[in-house]
Amino acid sequence: MEKPAILVARAIFPDVLEKLAQHCTVESNTEDRDWTPEELAQRLQGKVGVLTTGSQRIDAGLLAACPDLRIVANMAVGYNNFDLDAMTRAGVQGTNTPDVLTETTADFGFALLMAAARRITESEHFLRAGHWKNWRYDMFAGAEVHGSRMGIIGMGRIGQGIARRGAHGFGMEVVYHNRSRLAPDLEAACKARYLDKEELLRTADHVVLVLPYSPQSHHTIGAAELALMKPTATLVNIARGGIVDDAALAAALRDRRIAAAGLDVFEGEPQVHPDLLALPNVVLTPHIASATVATRRAMAMLAADNLIAFLGGRGPLTPVNRPMAKI
Ligand code: GLV
Repeated sequence: MEKPAILVARAIFPDVLEKLAQHCTVESNTEDRDWTPEELAQRLQGKVGVLTTGSQRIDAGLLAACPDLRIVANMAVGYNNFDLDAMTRAGVQGTNTPDVLTETTADFGFALLMAAARRITESEHFLRAGHWKNWRYDMFAGAEVHGSRMGIIGMGRIGQGIARRGAHGFGMEVVYHNRSRLAPDLEAACKARYLDKEELLRTADHVVLVLPYSPQSHHTIGAAELALMKPTATLVNIARGGIVDDAALAAALRDRRIAAAGLDVFEGEPQVHPDLLALPNVVLTPHIASATVATRRAMAMLAADNLIAFLGGRGPLTPVNRPMAKI
């Protein structure tokens, strides 16, 4: 039987490509640059599946241009690069990579919180620039992490992982806001208490954002929300660009209306708002929260296994929609 033809839209681990090649005829992006939407559509001609990384937009226009496509396997837990309704209507299966990145991403969220609150990158730049001359009682004095109140907005698997780290490892008081409350046993496991968003923002020492991006969550944190936060507070965004109004955040950081921020995701990334780049009190990382070798390999493998299972007629492992029958 002929193998199904698939596209891999960016470079991935060679052994994952080899596994895919045992089951599929694979064309992969050997240049490893982002193709334009037109190039992607052209490469997808005759392909029934594609492995994407979260940077390729799958919308109605692309789907109309690629009638053979049956599955898009995202190597990411978030899938806001999918127009899910259009995919469902076009009979195209979407999959993501949940669970395999939960703990690694929670580690990173906590690392950004620590780095921002304890001014780690700011003080490192100071040292490297040769400015360190002596000890000072208040040199790079930051905010307490242990025993403080952490407010988490978006209490899915990763939010719960961060809550457990804070509550059990650092003796923090954890409060959260989410579309729906967690079941009592999950709240107990995270030692987390539900609060409305306003009270969380007003009272938390550290606010961590881990909610999915959607038109409804666009600018969950803007000027009005930043104005509610404590002047000593830290904001961490490991969710998605667009959840925070980056221009408003830069203004709040510049005017010290909040103390610090740690950001792994940005509006319009890989572009970063120039005002953020100029500020010392923000830690900036290039969307790497899930980036350990083991986790990125597990994500690539799960995306590949979704393609192999679906195209082998066994159904997707981690579906994000229930596509209508293809006509
Ligand atoms: C990364 O941002 C992901 O959604 O996995």
